[in-house]
Amino acid sequence: MKKPGIASRGMFFVFFILLMFPAGALAHKLPADFRGFADSASCAPCHKTIYDEWSRSMHSMSDRKSDTAHNAVFLAFSQFMAKSGKKAPYFCGSCHAPAEGRLTAGAKTVYSYLPDIPCAFCHSVEGVSEGKAFNTYSLSAAMTSAGAVSGTSAPHPVSKWSFESPSGMCLGCHGKMKNGKGTVICSMDMEGHSDCVRCHMEEKAGPPAAGSGKTSHFSHLFPGGHDKDMLKKGVSLSLEASNGKLLVNIKNKAPHFFPSTSPMRAAFVKVEIFDKTGKAFPEKSGGMTTFMRVFTAGGKKGAPPWMAEKAVDSRIKAGETRTLTYDIPVGAVRASAAIYYRLFTPPAAAKFGIPAKDAAPVKVAEKAIDLDSR
Ligand code: HEC
Ligand code: HEC
Ligand code: HEC
Ligand code: HEC
Ligand code: HEC
Repeated sequence: MKKPGIASRGMFFVFFILLMFPAGALAHKLPADFRGFADSASCAPCHKTIYDEWSRSMHSMSDRKSDTAHNAVFLAFSQFMAKSGKKAPYFCGSCHAPAEGRLTAGAKTVYSYLPDIPCAFCHSVEGVSEGKAFNTYSLSAAMTSAGAVSGTSAPHPVSKWSFESPSGMCLGCHGKMKNGKGTVICSMDMEGHSDCVRCHMEEKAGPPAAGSGKTSHFSHLFPGGHDKDMLKKGVSLSLEASNGKLLVNIKNKAPHFFPSTSPMRAAFVKVEIFDKTGKAFPEKSGGMTTFMRVFTAGGKKGAPPWMAEKAVDSRIKAGETRTLTYDIPVGAVRASAAIYYRLFTPPAAAKFGIPAKDAAPVKVAEKAIDLDSR
């Protein structure tokens, strides 16, 4: 039997993508009495600390204008679709720009819509509608939150959203994404649920609003892969030498994978063993030293997310300690190991036209030990 060529295989995927993403599936559900989203700047006079945090967070830099990497990947997807004469649907906006006009359905009037992930989007969320490829939200006309609600000194009404815990609201966007073939692209559902707010919205000094009696608020910085200090909290490293072997133990301290979520992320370990003159021996690896997910299509590695059929996943699971084993050469006196994290791998950055500086490795942990040189 003749194998399908690249062109026909491409058509197959385009068909699936369109089948899986009809216009309605992209949309968040608006209530009949929806009056539009308030601009985030309108919250700033009273919520200055939270507004400043949000302004520095990736949630305020998530759309095609403010996130060059996101735009670059969407352009690559568009070019792939254009090869078969199709316009790529910007379904990405369901999470990256959820207050954009065409992503919200049910409004009778046309409102001005907002870029990125504005305050008013998260604080209009009522509940989640489970989708096949990804989830969407049902929105409320009232301002919503997890908060105290009764007894609040807010000059505006706030109603309680329906989530049992605040992490339920995160999972509408962070829960999962599958491509048209049903291949999992990212999935917190698979990586492990936890109380996201505890680590990603830490309680910080400073009232949540001017005139509030409270002295602390939940930080809206949402640190993650773009934050060096956060990355350092994610893993710990320890070294042991026994029976002529060097053991490099990497413990994932987070309740999700390391690295997490986006398939563009990668981490790697660099191990060096030195002689007494300080010269490094050529490295001898005893295990996987790169932690990432690589997609395959037609048995070939390195497929983009929209082509992916399967994934080879070497990331470190929640709570897992991964041990790499190296032979200690005769005459070795010292060993060191360092873990690096990358937002984008160099091949992915090159393929999608992401600036090389955004793919620079960040050192997240390092350790060294003296070896018994007898
Ligand atoms: C990505 C979603 C998201 C965005 C965007 C967002 N918030 Fe929040 N916000 C939350 C969640 C979740 C909580 C509840 C945290 C909890 O109670 O554990 C919260 C809590 C709050 C609170 C009350 C709790 C406190 O003490 O801090 C205020 C006030 C608030 N947000 C204002 C804002 C403003 C103003 C903006 C924009 C500048 C904003 N939020 C943007 C998700 C969001
Ligand atoms: C279901 C929600 C959802 C959809 C739909 C979605 N994304 Fe994302 N995207 C996310 C989340 C959540 C992150 C953050 C993950 C992380 O930091 O690891 C992210 C991160 C990214 C990043 C990394 C950005 C950076 O600056 O580091 C890129 C690139 C990206 N998405 C591209 C896309 C493209 C292109 C599409 C559409 C073809 C898309 N995404 C659709 C939720 C989504
Ligand atoms: C005129 C001042 C003012 C403006 C403007 C304002 N807020 Fe508030 N807001 C407050 C005060 C005061 C509180 C009560 C803070 C407290 O004591 O907990 C509050 C509380 C909140 C809460 C928490 C409610 C709860 O009980 O959990 C959220 C969420 C919130 N505001 C979001 C917003 C958003 C989003 C905007 C912009 C669209 C906004 N606010 C605009 C003053 C304001
Ligand atoms: C015990 C603390 C903790 C909890 C709970 C937690 N995280 Fe994280 N998360 C981290 C740390 C530390 C990092 C940075 C290291 C890494 O990337 O794993 C991180 C990274 C991330 C990233 C960026 C991943 C990347 O490399 O691009 C996302 C997105 C994320 N977390 C989402 C979530 C969501 C959603 C939840 C709730 C379901 C959650 N986290 C719960 C600690 C936590
Ligand atoms: C409306 C969709 C949406 C909601 C709701 C949402 N996120 Fe995100 N989040 C995103 C997108 C999209 C990105 C990627 C932005 C980018 O890099 O372009 C992101 C990025 C992140 C990151 C990575 C930041 C970094 O440094 O790269 C963390 C951590 C995170 N979100 C945590 C949370 C938590 C915790 C909640 C719940 C309180 C939440 N998010 C709710 C869509 C959402």
